[in-house]
Amino acid sequence: MRVLIVGGSGHLGRQLVRCATKDGHQVAATYRTRPHQISGAEKHQLDLRDQQQTERLIERIDPQLIINTAFQQGDWISTAVAPANLAQALRDRSVRLVHVSSDAVFSGDAIHYRETATPDPVTPYGAAKAAAETATTAVHPSAVIARTSLIIGHGSSSHERFVHALATGQQPGTLFSDDIRCPVHVDDLAAALLELGVGNRSGIHHLAGADAISRYELGLLIAQRDDPATSGLRHGSRTDANIRGPVDVRLDSTETQQGLRTQLRGAREFLKPAPG
Ligand SMILES: NC(=O)c1ccc[n+]([C@@H]2O[C@H](COP(=O)([O-])OP(=O)(O)OC[C@H]3O[C@@H](n4cnc5c(N)ncnc54)[C@H](OP(=O)(O)O)[C@@H]3O)[C@@H](O)[C@H]2O)c1
Repeated sequence: MRVLIVGGSGHLGRQLVRCATKDGHQVAATYRTRPHQISGAEKHQLDLRDQQQTERLIERIDPQLIINTAFQQGDWISTAVAPANLAQALRDRSVRLVHVSSDAVFSGDAIHYRETATPDPVTPYGAAKAAAETATTAVHPSAVIARTSLIIGHGSSSHERFVHALATGQQPGTLFSDDIRCPVHVDDLAAALLELGVGNRSGIHHLAGADAISRYELGLLIAQRDDPATSGLRHGSRTDANIRGPVDVRLDSTETQQGLRTQLRGAREFLKPAPG
């Protein structure tokens, strides 16, 4: 299959490129500012905010499957509007589209969220992701919307780098013990996104890890896996700190998982220290 990974220079995008290449697909990937992050695939510069550039690239590559991971924190146009530009560029084409979304579309008021839950974002980022879901589905109704949670990898995700900086005292900060998510491993997430992409499903799917854990417990597990020094990790309460945004958001992926071969492991399993 001709597969295009939009945002191929990002943390998730890079793993998608590796995974799709390994599965034997013909892979192209886009970057906006970091071409050096892509290896093993044809690379193309793309700013999704530019409708004409987006349309020209789709015309040139003629992909059969697109997985869109692109977003930019703090940029409404890149996160909310640009995905609609992409969907618009696919009109009159028979292309599978998987759009990556986030648990940030939920406020946390209900704590547990299944695929049927109605988004009620409380941050600009969450609102942008919710808007992107709506626009993508409206323009390309057969799209898969894949919501996920904190993406953890082999040490290079922003979450892991933050924990390393705290644990080694390079950065001050607190990990909240009441800030709960369902982290997912980037390998599992990439495999599941490709599985959904090559299949024939559409609509909303949840791809989060099986364990609901706090940022503090996640930090301890990351520090224990990468370095035994955990003394620099301080815990606190997000509720007491009165920080705006969702506190406890647990994506329930049970229904999506039932139809997948890929197992979405929980953080306690994938961050277990190697024996010996
Ligand atoms: N990270 C998490 O824990 C997490 C949790 C839930 C959901 N998500 C969602 O998962 C997806 C991937 O996250 P990630 O952590 O892999 O992100 P990332 O590492 O920050 O990568 C973002 C990608 O988007 C590209 N990009 C930014 N603005 C763009 C634009 N205007 N046009 C085209 N490309 C643009 C970047 O290109 P350059 O780097 O080349 O500039 C990069 O390839 C996002 O949709 C995010 O909302 C992430």
